[in-house]
Amino acid sequence: MTVTPTPVSVVVGGASGIGLATVHALAAAGHRVAVADLDQAAAAAALDGLGSEHSAHRVDVTDESAVEALFAAVLERHGSVSGVVNCAGVSTLASVVDHDVTEFRRVVDVCLTGAFLVLKHGGRTLLDGGAMVSLTSLNARQPGAGLVAYCAAKAGLVSLTQVSALELGARGIRVNSVSPGLVVTPLTAPAMDIPGVRDDYLANTPLGRSGEPEEIAAVIRFLLSEEARWITGETVEINGGAHLRRYPDLVQHVMAAFG
Ligand SMILES: NC(=O)c1ccc[n+]([C@@H]2O[C@H](COP(=O)([O-])OP(=O)(O)OC[C@H]3O[C@@H](n4cnc5c(N)ncnc54)[C@H](O)[C@@H]3O)[C@@H](O)[C@H]2O)c1
Repeated sequence: MTVTPTPVSVVVGGASGIGLATVHALAAAGHRVAVADLDQAAAAAALDGLGSEHSAHRVDVTDESAVEALFAAVLERHGSVSGVVNCAGVSTLASVVDHDVTEFRRVVDVCLTGAFLVLKHGGRTLLDGGAMVSLTSLNARQPGAGLVAYCAAKAGLVSLTQVSALELGARGIRVNSVSPGLVVTPLTAPAMDIPGVRDDYLANTPLGRSGEPEEIAAVIRFLLSEEARWITGETVEINGGAHLRRYPDLVQHVMAAFG
């Protein structure tokens, strides 16, 4: 009889939104889940209702020593790592000519450099045959006025995914990303408060609605699973068809609403 080891997955940025839904989807699929987030209390709360076989950790993805220490702590606690989900993200809203460089660097630091550090130390730690999934965005392929830092970082993350898949394939490690359209979470809630933005977004989505965190988590769970064993270097669009149209102009909506 072959004994299949219990999968152990690290969900970075797992305390909220899509990451939180992913923690629950993976736990329901039998994974031991290590949830890691900048917000340690929220990471611990993410495990409410789940068993003591899971663990919560604090990490700041912009700090390489903290990311390295996270994977060491997960190895010590769970013995191995077979899956990594890279969910940490932040955004900001400003036009190119008005963009504060510190804010630009903050978004790139979390969404691109932070994702690189998770792929680097996740890749070092993963069992051969493991898998990693990063969260890019519809904005990686569809530019959004007012979102220059976020668009640039997420487009870079698609490339990071592809290069990592090339390099880690020899160890049987698969590296993919998912690219959601609008999912209402604490990240996107502020944009929903700008009059007209939600309606404009939905008018440009063939399926006519925003997504749910669970709909993204289901695809992440699939990409980590054995069923996805021949998929690597891919970015899966999950957006109700919004990539077929255009992105709302957030700068124009702000000007129209607030002058
Ligand atoms: N919600 C959407 O519409 C949408 C669309 C496309 C892509 N995404 C991407 O999906 C991912 C999850 O987004 P969400 O909507 O669930 O957002 P969210 O704000 O609900 O969750 C993001 C999590 O990242 C954590 N985080 C932020 N900075 C961190 C850091 N430096 N180190 C560690 N953790 C940090 C936050 O504490 C939070 O728990 C992000 O990468 C986001 O860019 C979201």
